[in-house]
Amino acid sequence: MYFHTTMPDEFTVTPWEVKGKVDYDKLIVQFGTQKITEELKQRMKNLVGELHVMLRRNVFFSHRDLDLVLNDYEKGKGFFLYTGRAPSLGMHIGHLIPFIFTKWLQDKFNVNLYIEITDDEKFMRNPEYTLDQTRSWAYDNILDIIAVGFNPDKTFIFQDTEYIRNMYPIAVKIAKKLTFSEVRATFGLDVSSNIGLIFYPALQIAPTMFEKKRCLIPAGIDQDPYWRLQRDIAESLGYYKAAQIHSKFLPPLTGPEGKMSSSNPETAIYLVDDPKTVERKIMKYAFSGGQPTIELHRKYGGNPEIDVPFQWLYYFFEEDDNRIKEIEEEYRSGKMLTGELKQILIDKLNSFLEEHRRRREEAKELIQVFKYDGKLAKQMWEKIHE
Ligand code: TYM
Repeated sequence: MYFHTTMPDEFTVTPWEVKGKVDYDKLIVQFGTQKITEELKQRMKNLVGELHVMLRRNVFFSHRDLDLVLNDYEKGKGFFLYTGRAPSLGMHIGHLIPFIFTKWLQDKFNVNLYIEITDDEKFMRNPEYTLDQTRSWAYDNILDIIAVGFNPDKTFIFQDTEYIRNMYPIAVKIAKKLTFSEVRATFGLDVSSNIGLIFYPALQIAPTMFEKKRCLIPAGIDQDPYWRLQRDIAESLGYYKAAQIHSKFLPPLTGPEGKMSSSNPETAIYLVDDPKTVERKIMKYAFSGGQPTIELHRKYGGNPEIDVPFQWLYYFFEEDDNRIKEIEEEYRSGKMLTGELKQILIDKLNSFLEEHRRRREEAKELIQVFKYDGKLAKQMWEKIHE
């Protein structure tokens, strides 16, 4: 079950890197997931009344067992949501994609949500980071996550290095089912890998077994290898195979290849970037599908398929379907210039970030609730996952 999807000069998608221009249809075949069909979308729409922009535009494009989750919901059995984050120094806008969509799912289906903050994973994976660092980033990233607006009664945010005692019994059961050779092959480890990384998958799988209901995981498709292992073993432990709904990657500013990287500041817009920085980065670095001169642009028009500002607007910054269509047509025809398109994105980003930062300040008062005192959090601290 080796998951690296590299073909010469093509693309790679692993939990640690995304390289090249990803062909998402091919990825569905290679990972063995299902495409989210129009029928499935219609079914969701019938259940909850509308579709999130990221579903309408196929940003969430792939799934496993989403149909079974909807069956369980219809039958009144219910389900729960689980997602997570490996904390880093400052989140970028791409990291918010799964969280924004998860909030929508929670609001529409009114279900419990578990958010795992893997301060351990981040520490073990990077030789240069200290545990103190990854823990302080955890605090910081949790504020950004809370700012997305989850329901405090139904959301539990936990850090592995704190919640481990309650998770450990289920984690050891999972660990006993996984062999070193499977984990090594799935994650490309070798005999020089530290032993923490060998055990870590058990900790990312554990929350899928926090309830005896079906678990639905909204996440980027790079996390899929963990869920493949989970699905091999879940039923033998008396739990459901985890269902998933996978997103594409918000492309980096610098071009349609790869994904935005925290280690490469010009490829990303950070949640802390001020209006001037946003403007400078978009104007300077955002890869354009426009023509090199105004004359040529007016004549031949731009190419929205490769234009990063357009793609960002399409992913979710311009939610209005009529408006995005208008922008696309004007840009393609040459009526709208690259600078004008970039300005639309700059304005959208800056108002989004301003609101985000306001909510992030408020989140400081709520962190205790999501981690310890909220209804679900309290319940979870009392529970040992056997
Ligand atoms: P991490 O911190 O690398 O990423 C957090 C989430 O963000 C998604 N993501 C993106 N989505 C769209 N566009 C991008 N450019 C982009 N970059 C990252 C990731 O797919 C992920 O959903 N091991 C995990 C932490 C984790 C987790 C989980 C994630 C623990 N349990 C359960 C998802 C679900 C990690 O390193 O995520």
